[in-house]
Formats: sequence, structure tokens, C-alpha cells
Amino acid sequence: AASTEIDISNIAEGQIVTVKWRGKPVFISHRTAAEIEAARAVPVSELPDPATDQSRVQKPEWLIVIGICTHLGCVPLTNDGPFQGGYFCPCHGSVYDTSGRIRQGPAPYNLAVPPYAFTSDTKVTIG
Ligand code: FES
Repeated sequence: AASTEIDISNIAEGQIVTVKWRGKPVFISHRTAAEIEAARAVPVSELPDPATDQSRVQKPEWLIVIGICTHLGCVPLTNDGPFQGGYFCPCHGSVYDTSGRIRQGPAPYNLAVPPYAFTSDTKVTIG
């Protein structure tokens, strides 16, 4: 009952959709090759909350994160901010990259990755 099944077949490359899971927004990003490359090009040591992109995704094309800013809990804007395909929190200006990692602003942590599993090529279950 706590899990949510999402059909991802209609999410176009470059598109980020917001779904609800346990009352929280979850962002599902169908990343482009350029967005994946950008996420993997940055040295992990330069990140405020160091994490490889590989550690944050199960499939490179799909980033799934909880859409709650780790500063004070606002919902960031998707496909917004200085990173193409990234996230921007309008409350106090936190910037997240295409891996949902904090890059600028007051938020201390990356956007959290919820538990999820791909149940087929077109379906993902969150929770
Ligand atoms: Fe997002 Fe403050 S709540 S920057």
C-alpha cells in the first residue's frame, strides 16, 4: 500500500515529471545523454555532499529523487537553474544538478533517492 507504480513510457527524453509518493513529491527525470555526461564529468571531490552519479541511479537515463529541498523543505523547480535538466529551489536559491546533487546555495545535502525498482522497461515502483 505504501508503494506507487508509475508508467514511465510517456516521459520524453529531457522531461521531468512529478509524482506523489506517501504525500511527497518525487521527481522522475528522463535524462538526455548530455545530462548524464554532465552529471558524470564533475569531480566528486568538488561536491558539497560527495556522491557519484552512478551511486544515485539504477539506470543512467532515469534519475528518481524526492522533490524536497534539503534546506528547509520547499519543492524545487524542475528543469530550472543554471544546470540544464537540473533543479532550482526558489525559497533560498539552492541549485541541484542533473543528478539531484546540491551544487550551490544553503541546502546541505543532495536530493534524497527513494527506494524504487524497475518492474519492467516501462514501469517503476516507488517504495
Ligand atoms: Fe530550498 Fe531553502 S528551502 S533553499
